[in-house]
Amino acid sequence: MIQVVKNLLFLASGRGSNFKSFVDHIRLGILKAVAVKILVSNRVNAPVLEIARIADIATKELVGTSGRSFVSKEEREKARLDFDKQCLELVHQFSIDYVLLAGFDQILSKSFVDSMPCRILNIHPAYDLRAFGGKNMVGSKVHDSVVRSEVRYSGCTVHFVANEIDQGPAILKERVAILPDDTAGSLEQRILAYEHLLYPQALQLLVDGRVFLSDDRTKCYVDRFSDNWDIEWWKRQEAYLRKIQFDTITLQEAQTS
Ligand code: GAR
Repeated sequence: MIQVVKNLLFLASGRGSNFKSFVDHIRLGILKAVAVKILVSNRVNAPVLEIARIADIATKELVGTSGRSFVSKEEREKARLDFDKQCLELVHQFSIDYVLLAGFDQILSKSFVDSMPCRILNIHPAYDLRAFGGKNMVGSKVHDSVVRSEVRYSGCTVHFVANEIDQGPAILKERVAILPDDTAGSLEQRILAYEHLLYPQALQLLVDGRVFLSDDRTKCYVDRFSDNWDIEWWKRQEAYLRKIQFDTITLQEAQTS
């Protein structure tokens, strides 16, 4: 079956390990029928920009609101809207089908979200997004609150972006156990490994037409199992796991020599 290629725009602010996982999944032929058109960062010199440049992917640094101080709320809002406007122009310029947030630390405006219903995806490093999602719940702050709480497991969630922060319908979720000696840092590292597997899988399901929304658009139903879709996916994703193993061994050898 010939599939129409879907164009992607990534929004990222930092380290870029999720973005790198997408680059690897595409390079290894695991994630099919997608093309990364551009990576946009709201933080100048974010490490993720270098990952994109090495992979020969177009980049754009757009000054956002993160890490900046403003004289007034109005000024901040204006900067946020300017950023979103420029992003939307890129969406049109590159005929973008899906915007993927990958460690993006800025809240998108209502007008941006409303202009792309169910076409913006995010990954959040928690399982329970009601308890561990929302404003200021970004990266290590999420894991800090999880380890300080009484919960037994955390995880990660890929979801559509809606106007209520981190509360859009979930496409895929994975649970990760909290171990007795876990710190926020150790939990983050373990969850991150799951994120790198889950996010590309969720996108492939979407691109393959296997994600369905309830009539009120608050829930997703995902068909992962018919026609052996899951078996085919895991067979392909093995190549990524082998690459990660190889990269880890190579890094360890380099560090000990
Ligand atoms: C990831 O853990 C991602 O889930 C999280 O930020 C990290 C970015 O890492 N996102 C959020 O917290 C969104 N609210 P990365 O830059 O290495 O992909």
